[in-house]
Amino acid sequence: MRFSNSRVAMAALGVLLITACNRDKKPEGAGAGGGAGDKTIALLLPETKTARYESHDRPLFERKVKALCPECQVIYSNADQNAAKQQDQAEAALTNGARVLVLDPVDSASASAIVARAKQSKIPVISYDRLIVNADVDYYISFDNEKVGKLQGQALVDKLRKDGKTSGTLVMINGSPTDNNAKLFKAGAHSVIDGSGFTVGAEYDTPDWSPDKAQQQMEQSITRFGKADIIGVYAANDGTAGGAIAAMKAAGVTPLPPVTGQDAELAGIQRVVSGEQYMTVYKAIKPEAETAAELAVTLLRGQQPEAGKLNAKVPNGKKDVPSILLAPVVVTKDTVKSTVVADGFWTPAQICVGAYQQACQAAQLQ
Ligand code: GAL
Repeated sequence: MRFSNSRVAMAALGVLLITACNRDKKPEGAGAGGGAGDKTIALLLPETKTARYESHDRPLFERKVKALCPECQVIYSNADQNAAKQQDQAEAALTNGARVLVLDPVDSASASAIVARAKQSKIPVISYDRLIVNADVDYYISFDNEKVGKLQGQALVDKLRKDGKTSGTLVMINGSPTDNNAKLFKAGAHSVIDGSGFTVGAEYDTPDWSPDKAQQQMEQSITRFGKADIIGVYAANDGTAGGAIAAMKAAGVTPLPPVTGQDAELAGIQRVVSGEQYMTVYKAIKPEAETAAELAVTLLRGQQPEAGKLNAKVPNGKKDVPSILLAPVVVTKDTVKSTVVADGFWTPAQICVGAYQQACQAAQLQ
């Protein structure tokens, strides 16, 4: 992956994309192969077991499109982690008049067929959050995903060293093997863990990012290594972390070893506050979703974003895709307040319900 030196100031980017829209004043839909009235954007998201898509990505995207283009329509579909279903949803969106596809693929490889189909109709495709490989995608908006894995791996190794651990087993629970991001998270984590002196005793990919499957994988590890020997768990996201923690609690593992996560989803943040999960990675979905919405409206209007505002070119096997990559942030108990709460991602009132009230007070969230 290649990155340019400068990180984009997202607010400035938003202004520039809108400025580009206003300045060019081409007829709507001009570059998208349609006539007047072509004001439909499709947002195709991959799954529902991970909370972010329905709680953040979708509403933020739809709201931004409405603000920029009140007469625009968004066709929204969620594929429930089924690549064939996503293919059908994309086909239906095109049939129903979508002039731009914003596609977060279930399967980063097979989604190239969706891109080829869209391109036949001269419909631009934005690869959203996950890179579609070997395909003629127009833009890619995501986070520095290898960095996500590095942050997770480093946080785990640092915590183990701080706790004075020198021996014992790590378990790695990676994401879905069809998700290009999962490959990057895994590579990033390995780049830190492999040279750390700690041993990975077992490692799994988790089909569909399923928390239930992660739980089974963790049960297998506990059976294999025994309760006391597992000193840390690399879990690629909060859903899989939740599965691993449930398995350890059911087996009576005390104290729980440090477990990583990602997404800062509400259940993950609550576990971080209560100490069940050591860390998560916060990815600010607002700028990601809103930038995708701005770009989609720009393309719908037959315009181009200003080239200098893209901050990376990411090779996908077919081309160097003009990209916007955002920076992920580590969250531990000590930084919940200064990260996700300060950013308005979750409020203390949302986090500190029921059994979490006491832990919230200790973490000075309330
Ligand atoms: C990844 C995404 C993560 C997480 C995961 C499970 O591609 O970057 O934020 O949501 O999928 O859906």
